[in-house]
Amino acid sequence: MIQIGKILKKVPIFKMLGKESIDFIVERLKFKTFQKGENICEIGDPGEEMFIIISGETDICIGEKGNQQVVATLKSGDYFGEMALLTGEPRSATVKANEVTETFVLYKNDFDVILEKYPSISLSMGKIVSQRLRDTLKKAASASGEKKDNFEARGDGSGPSGSLKDMALVDLISFCEANSLTGDMKISHGDELGVFEFERGELLNIKLGDLADDAALDKMINWQDGRFEINVRPLTLKTTPEEETVDEVKKVLIVNNSKVVRRVIERAFTGLGYEVSTASNIATSLDVINTVVPDIIITDIKLADGSGIEFIRQVRDTQNVPFIFITDDAVKANFEQELQDVDDVDITKTHEVSEIVKLVENKLLQ
Ligand code: CMP
Repeated sequence: MIQIGKILKKVPIFKMLGKESIDFIVERLKFKTFQKGENICEIGDPGEEMFIIISGETDICIGEKGNQQVVATLKSGDYFGEMALLTGEPRSATVKANEVTETFVLYKNDFDVILEKYPSISLSMGKIVSQRLRDTLKKAASASGEKKDNFEARGDGSGPSGSLKDMALVDLISFCEANSLTGDMKISHGDELGVFEFERGELLNIKLGDLADDAALDKMINWQDGRFEINVRPLTLKTTPEEETVDEVKKVLIVNNSKVVRRVIERAFTGLGYEVSTASNIATSLDVINTVVPDIIITDIKLADGSGIEFIRQVRDTQNVPFIFITDDAVKANFEQELQDVDDVDITKTHEVSEIVKLVENKLLQ
């Protein structure tokens, strides 16, 4: 058990979790070994589980049998199979063991429970999924036989672009559908700009100036030249199938005299998909709050221009933002006394970032 926990702590999506949370996940993992050359899952199949690689190596392949492209190679600490669980869509790729590969398997029911309990996992997973979709889209695009010059990834994080002379509009639409595009495809022709919006490969609407849907398509289908550009939108994920999507990025303000402490906490929250602002004192914090009201403030109790008590009073004059104070043992008791009538406050004496993350998530996602 302890050993498995150690392995899990090395997986980026679980890194931020404390021991209790890791134990909770460990209890739900199964162990499975695949032989060299074995297909662990196949493109188009329904997805029942995700895998975390303990040892070995897998290729992620797209395309028809006999004409497969490797889009990525995953190793120990990487995971796969999460997309089908998150989207409910069939497997987006075939995953093949390049050598004997040991995995932990997490079945859908447990996966849903874990994501609901630890939303930070779905936040970091969401980023990876979006990146994977982009990579796959680019690979599929370049594999579709287009000349590289005319159909290439722009390297700005978006999908492929190119000329309509090289790929007909109908083929582009099928391409977006086949690759489960969430985002849009823009078609430009002289001064005119048409936009096709997709959600998980489903064409939602088409616009061209005042024209919509069929009328817009009828006009664009006749364009012999022009350019296309496919833009992948980061996915918003469901924590459970019934729940609302997590579509709002939470905002955290970190206030601390020490640049290093600010930076360490900032990195942890940015990595988890939070929008982070930092400030070194009360005055700068109030400026930040005037521009964007954070969902939570994490602050030291002693700042260069005043105490934590003064800080929270000034903020609470206008905004009811929750506070987490970081302090040390010596002053914690006094400080708790002073804050006893103030709502929505947590005090922690730890500087351990994973503990601070847990407190924030309990607060914001309760
Ligand atoms: P899923 O679609 O459930 O099954 C195939 C898995 O391959 C997919 O989840 C991802 O985990 C993984 N995968 C797909 N595309 C990529 C990619 N571009 N890079 C890494 N892994 C990928």
